[in-house]
Amino acid sequence: MRKHSSSWRACPDRASDAVAESRRTPTLHDVALRAGVSPMTVSRVVNASGPVSDRLRARVEHALEETGYIPNTIAQNLRTKRTDAIALLIPDMTNPFFTTLAHGVETSAREAGVSLLIANSDEREEEELRLVPMLLRRQVDGLLIVPAGPGAQSMRMCRQQAVPLVMLDRRPATRDVDVVRADSENGALELGRLLVRLGHRDMAVLAGPASVTTAADRVVGFRRALMDEAGLPPPRVVHGVFSIESGHAMTLQVMRGRRPTALFAANNFIAIGALHALEELGLGVPEDVAIVGFDDLPTAMVTFPFLTVATQPAFEMGRRGVALLIDRIADPRSPWQDVVLPTELLVRRSSGGPVQSEAADDPSAEHH
Ligand code: RIB
Repeated sequence: MRKHSSSWRACPDRASDAVAESRRTPTLHDVALRAGVSPMTVSRVVNASGPVSDRLRARVEHALEETGYIPNTIAQNLRTKRTDAIALLIPDMTNPFFTTLAHGVETSAREAGVSLLIANSDEREEEELRLVPMLLRRQVDGLLIVPAGPGAQSMRMCRQQAVPLVMLDRRPATRDVDVVRADSENGALELGRLLVRLGHRDMAVLAGPASVTTAADRVVGFRRALMDEAGLPPPRVVHGVFSIESGHAMTLQVMRGRRPTALFAANNFIAIGALHALEELGLGVPEDVAIVGFDDLPTAMVTFPFLTVATQPAFEMGRRGVALLIDRIADPRSPWQDVVLPTELLVRRSSGGPVQSEAADDPSAEHH
């Protein structure tokens, strides 16, 4: 931790000014100063209300990104015509969960005659906070956001601009926003109950980031099944990120020392990383270690779908999100909704017990 010099503490007003300055909402003049142009030039770029040279436009657009300036609400509200465009911000464009969710959004938007902008925050909150002002400047009629973290700042920016927002998949700490998500806690509870029924006592959770509600809810649900319902000791919980590399690293970490007999991988990519690590350790699934996961993988991605998972209705989540956003655009004052969609348990070989339907899982099994 870098020690601050005593002089820094001697000037609290400068420090508090600096903090206040960093929190001040950027103005059009800030953008003009940063770009080295007149405020009129900035206004022309922002409102597309007059000729601007490419050179100056590029400087203004760079300054807009750097400052995070968003045109004020009055200017926005003067806009009579809706843009008939909405935006979707997802945290991982490479994850089939989110591409399926985006497909649901895109299908619904198309059916509603609304065009769609899609952006990707790479599970990085600072990227999300860069993208949200950019999308708001595009004057979309509404946003659908899967937050990369708590989501409070993104919510605040949309609120400041009076642009309707629906949170998908993950929810912010407050309840004053529309949300469409799956029941992560219950899905994890079902997975925990399954492993308890199969006789496992010593288990570990390979969790996502603690700041993301789907990761936190899955830990809560799994702990409920083991501790509250079965009176077992708490599972070991390690928090990583929703990636294959993190799943691999967390698995090596929990398999050192006393080895758990079952692992709960909190999303599809963590499960893949875990399987790679178990193979490296020479451990067979399920004979040496049982494993269950969250989110299925498209059969195109796995030659032999043997992973027991709790799946989420990602496509339906996208569709419901658009429906909720269109309702919110039409009626800004209706009560907030927290739509919780059910997960589905698919029991396959990786958990080690009887599977639901042999034929469905094992392509080598006789198909009738
Ligand atoms: O795969 C990414 C995970 O994060 C999914 O489980 C989804 O629920 C999201 O929260």
